[in-house]
Amino acid sequence: MNIIRVKDQIEGGQVGAQVFQDALNNQAHVFGLATGSTPISIYDTIVKSDMDFSDKISINLDEYKGISGEHEQSYRYFMQKHLFDVKPFATSYVPNGLNPDGMSESGRYDKILEQYPRDLQILGLGQNGHIGFNEPGTSFQSTTHEVDLTESTIEANARFFSDKNDVPRQAYSMGIKSIMGAKQILMAAYGENKAAAVKAMIEGPVTEDVPASILQKHDNVIVILDAGSASQLT
Ligand code: F6R
Repeated sequence: MNIIRVKDQIEGGQVGAQVFQDALNNQAHVFGLATGSTPISIYDTIVKSDMDFSDKISINLDEYKGISGEHEQSYRYFMQKHLFDVKPFATSYVPNGLNPDGMSESGRYDKILEQYPRDLQILGLGQNGHIGFNEPGTSFQSTTHEVDLTESTIEANARFFSDKNDVPRQAYSMGIKSIMGAKQILMAAYGENKAAAVKAMIEGPVTEDVPASILQKHDNVIVILDAGSASQLT
């Protein structure tokens, strides 16, 4: 893993956006994207740049099941707001949260991943080591699948919804095998609350108990860390 230390998330955004620029310079065509707070500074930097994705493909990691892409808490909506409205791609794939049939939606998404091998996949890190919606215990062999959200994730997300009962109970997520299929992976993590997960990801054993630890087995990973998230590394 190529670990890059930055002073804060703003600098991490510049470093991350440069990885996108380098990928574009190397004729990358397919970009795997993530939501959450971590990639926002990268997207902010890209939005202000002259990078052009209008003939590129994007494929997002995950989406809530049961809400439409117009819902303000959907990941599609997040991507429109933070990136696509200013930097459109030729086609942007996000799982269809309104497909009630988990098997058909997962199969559809896996076909897209097969058709468009990703040149670069961006990831954030959960405090428990999750990547995408792949919580500890998820098989390293997993492809796109329907996930039952844990009670703690539902609780954590409740603040974004007017009523806790409106928080989706399920999501669609690329699996760990799907994530590992990207040619290059860009992981970023900021803040001391990610320090234990960062240590386990980089220095711990490769175990399904820490989904992100699988990245040790990928031969092209860049990890952007600030002082807080790197604070437990030896
Ligand atoms: C987002 C995703 C999640 C987040 C992770 C970190 O599409 O799949 O795995 O990357 O939960 O979230 P933040 O960046 O908000 O700390």
